[in-house]
Amino acid sequence: MDKLTIRDIEVSGKRVLVRVDFNVPLDEETGAITDDSRIRATLPTINYLIDRGARVILCSHLGRPKGRVVEKLRLAIVAQRLSQILGQTVEVDTDSIGPEVEKAVGNLKAGKVLLLENIRFHPEEEANDVPFAQALARLADIYVNDAFGASHRAHASIVSVANYLPAVAGLLVEKETKVLEGILANPGHPFAELAGGAKVSDKISVLENTMDKVDSLLIGGSMAATFLKAKGYEVGLSLVENDKLELAAKLMREEAQQGVHLMLPVDVVVADKLSAEAEVKTVSIEDVPPDWRIVDIGPQTISNFSEELRRCKTIFWNGPMGIYEIAQFARGTQAMARLLASIEATTIIGGGSTAEVVTEMKLADKMTFVSTGGGASLRFLGGETLPGVEALLNKKT
Ligand code: 3PG
Ligand code: MG
Repeated sequence: MDKLTIRDIEVSGKRVLVRVDFNVPLDEETGAITDDSRIRATLPTINYLIDRGARVILCSHLGRPKGRVVEKLRLAIVAQRLSQILGQTVEVDTDSIGPEVEKAVGNLKAGKVLLLENIRFHPEEEANDVPFAQALARLADIYVNDAFGASHRAHASIVSVANYLPAVAGLLVEKETKVLEGILANPGHPFAELAGGAKVSDKISVLENTMDKVDSLLIGGSMAATFLKAKGYEVGLSLVENDKLELAAKLMREEAQQGVHLMLPVDVVVADKLSAEAEVKTVSIEDVPPDWRIVDIGPQTISNFSEELRRCKTIFWNGPMGIYEIAQFARGTQAMARLLASIEATTIIGGGSTAEVVTEMKLADKMTFVSTGGGASLRFLGGETLPGVEALLNKKT
């Protein structure tokens, strides 16, 4: 990485605004944090700053509140968990900018940590608004981006703010970019990408960008339905992005021209509704009933995917194979996790829900690298520069 990091800058006594990605999964019923990996991953940076007597102002988003205050997306619960892990009380502010926040920052002692309220409660955040970024910048002397998982978002606290303060990378951003760069610079072949998750629209441009790097592309998860439909199969009530059918067909044609081995499910688990009480059966992709929906890949697909992945030297996995939140639709995802944990290949797990599954199954340390970024690592793999990294100061050459 050709960017300056917190090691290259004097931080002692300084007010340091650190953008982190504390967008952690919450239990739908209790609101409790179900996986705190993203919080733990920022500890090297936070402790580095604390040890040097910096005044640490943390800033994060949680969920997608779309510019309004959403009570269940307040960061108090994150502050609590961080306090436990750090062994010091982390105060959480009631807002992210303004006179009250400035006062709290003014009172912050050296080596202490303050967490601003969910930055996405302000619509200006996602708009990458300049006055908003300037208001944030006024809180601090130095800006640090340690939010690798959100660095693909050109938002005010990630991009604009870097124009108004000396801006450097945190240790997580440094580690993620170093490891991913290293793995991708010279990947062992065959190189497979295992793609899942919900949305084709989120991923299709990235899949296009990775075409010249991978030898195989295996598609499962909800987004497989759009590809299957584009091939002419009936997919019942499965969520299909109809406006992406043409794009999916084009991608499949191009992958074939490039010699990429593209694999789709040949059988799927279907359910009559999206709940744990649903009736469930396994069918060939030719026989998806009209009133049912695809919720997981089937056993034959698991076996086909496994066989393909077993012969690969590098595997990048992003996105679950089904609606894994419901136990009986999680088998495909779990089978892929177990397989990747058991083989010799270099295995890279791209963030978000994929990392959660692997962590929950206690397989994280069996993988070569588990990234805290989902969309971010995917874009990285496609060779895109991340706007949040781009915005930081360059190392002098
Ligand atoms: C993530 O979880 O993907 C990052 O925190 C970014 O969140 P977003 O996808 O809502 O922008
Ligand atoms: Mg995301």
